[in-house]
Amino acid sequence: MPRKKVDPLEVLATTPLAKAVASSSIGKSVATKLGVPPAVELRRGRNNPRGAISLAALSNATLVGSTLALLGRDTINVKVDTPDARTLGDSGRPVPPGYEGRLGALVLDLTELRAVKDLEYVRGVLRPAIRSLERSGRVIFVARAPESYDELEPRVLAQGLDGLNRTVAKELRGGATSNLIWVDPETTPGGLASTLRFLLEGRSAYVDGQSWRVGVAEVSDDVATTDRPYAGKIVAVTGAARGIGAAIARTFARDGATVVGVDVPASGEALAKVVNEIHGTALQLDITLPDAGERIAAHVAERYGEDARLYGIVHNAGITRDRMLVNLDEKGWDAVLQVNLMAQLRMNELLLDGRPGGLADGGSIVGISSTSGIAGNKGQANYATSKAAIVGLVRAMAPQLADRGITINAVGPGFIETEMTAAIPYLQRQIFQRSNSLAQGGKPVDVAETIAYLADPASAAVTGQVVRVCGQALVGQ
Ligand SMILES: NC(=O)c1ccc[n+]([C@@H]2O[C@H](COP(=O)([O-])OP(=O)(O)OC[C@H]3O[C@@H](n4cnc5c(N)ncnc54)[C@H](O)[C@@H]3O)[C@@H](O)[C@H]2O)c1
Repeated sequence: MPRKKVDPLEVLATTPLAKAVASSSIGKSVATKLGVPPAVELRRGRNNPRGAISLAALSNATLVGSTLALLGRDTINVKVDTPDARTLGDSGRPVPPGYEGRLGALVLDLTELRAVKDLEYVRGVLRPAIRSLERSGRVIFVARAPESYDELEPRVLAQGLDGLNRTVAKELRGGATSNLIWVDPETTPGGLASTLRFLLEGRSAYVDGQSWRVGVAEVSDDVATTDRPYAGKIVAVTGAARGIGAAIARTFARDGATVVGVDVPASGEALAKVVNEIHGTALQLDITLPDAGERIAAHVAERYGEDARLYGIVHNAGITRDRMLVNLDEKGWDAVLQVNLMAQLRMNELLLDGRPGGLADGGSIVGISSTSGIAGNKGQANYATSKAAIVGLVRAMAPQLADRGITINAVGPGFIETEMTAAIPYLQRQIFQRSNSLAQGGKPVDVAETIAYLADPASAAVTGQVVRVCGQALVGQ
C-alpha cells in the first residue's frame, strides 16, 4: 500500500503537547527567541484612543473638524508650517505642536487636495506622527473620491493616497492602523460621523490599510452619536449558532437590537444558548430551502406582531467544501454556491417584496465575502466564486435599493480565529495568522463590529461597499 507523505515538523507542531507549549509562557518565549514576536493586544470595543486626536486639515478644509466636533471629540490642530514653535515631546525630541505626549490618532482632512505640492504637507504631518502614535493608535485619511474631480491632477492624487495609506499601514507598529475614507463633495459631517467614530474606536481594531467610500445621506445628530443605534430594531443573523455569527448576534444585541438568530436544526441547542443569552429569538432553518425568506418574515410577524418589520439582515451563514479543481465534483461545487450565494439571492428577493415581517425601508443588508473571494485561493474554487459573487451582489443592488433608503454592504474577513480555522494545522495556521500587517489573526468580534458599523442607521451614507477585516492581509488587492 502506498504510504502517505508526512511532514514531521507539521506532525510535531500539531500534537496536543506542541499546542499546549505554543500557548504557554515557555512556548511564547521560545517563539520569541525564534524571532516570532508575540502579537500586540489590540484595543477593542467602543472606546477612544487614550492620547490626543490631532487634526491636520489641508488648506483649512472643514469637513473632518466639523465631524469631530459633532462627535464631541476634542482635537488639537496640527501645524507643520511653524517650526519655530516646536516644543520637546515625551521622547525629549523636538516635535511640532499637536504631537506632544503620545498621539492617539492623526486625522488628515485632505478634501482640499489639489496639487502635487500639497503632498509635502501630508508628508510633513505624517512623519512625526508615525513615531508618536500610541499602541492601537490611528491614522485616518479623509479625501474626496477620485471620480468626484473633473480636473486631472487632484483626481490622480486622490488615487495616489491609496498607495500612501497602504504603505503607512505597513510601516506602523504596535497595533496601530491606517485607513482612507473617500467622500463625495456633498458629504456632510452627519454622513461621515459613524465612519470616523468607528475608525477612531477599538471597534475597527482589525481593519487596516483599507479604503472605502462615504456618500451622501441625511443623518441627524442624535442618530450619529448614539451608542445604541439598534434600540427598538429587529435584526436577523443567519448562522448565529457559533463562530462569527454568534459574535454578530451578541454585538447587535449590545447595541440595542432584538436579534432573530437563524441556524440549521442540527445546531438548535447552540443557537438557543446564544439567543437566550441576548434575549433574542431562535429560528431553526436551513437557509437553502426555497421559502427560507418567507419563513424568516413569518417568524418576525408571528413573534413581534403583524406590523413588525426587519430592520436588517446579516447573511453570515457560509460553508466550505475545499477541493482542488481536479477533484471538485458537482456536489461539492453546488453545496457551497447554494449556501453562500443562492440562498442569499432568494432570501433578499422575498424579504424585499413588502410582506409583513420583511425588510423595512431605511433598513440594511450585510453580506460576508472573504479574502479568498478577493484574491482567489488554491482548493477553494467553489468558495472563492461564491464570495466574489457577494462583492458583485452588493455593488449591483446598492443603486437598486437607494430609493428605499436601504443600504447593502459586505465585509471581507481575512484570517479569523473560529472553530473553522482552528482545524487548520498549527504551522500553517501560524503562517496564515501572521501574514498581515498586525501580525495576528482577527477575532469574530472584529468582523461583528464592522458589520454593526455598516448596518448602523448612522451609516446611511455608506452603501455598495466591501470593507475587509483582515489586518491588511498580504493576499488580495
Ligand atoms: N473564519 C474565517 O476566517 C472566515 C474568513 C472569511 C470569511 N468567513 C465567512 O464568515 C462566515 C462565518 O464563518 P465562521 O468561521 O463563523 O463559520 P462556522 O462554520 O463556524 O459557522 C457557520 C454557521 O453557519 C451555519 N450554517 C451553515 N449552513 C447553513 C444553512 N444551510 N442554513 C443555516 N445555517 C447554516 C452553521 O451551522 C454554523 O453555525 C461564513 O460566511 C464564512 O464563509 C470566515
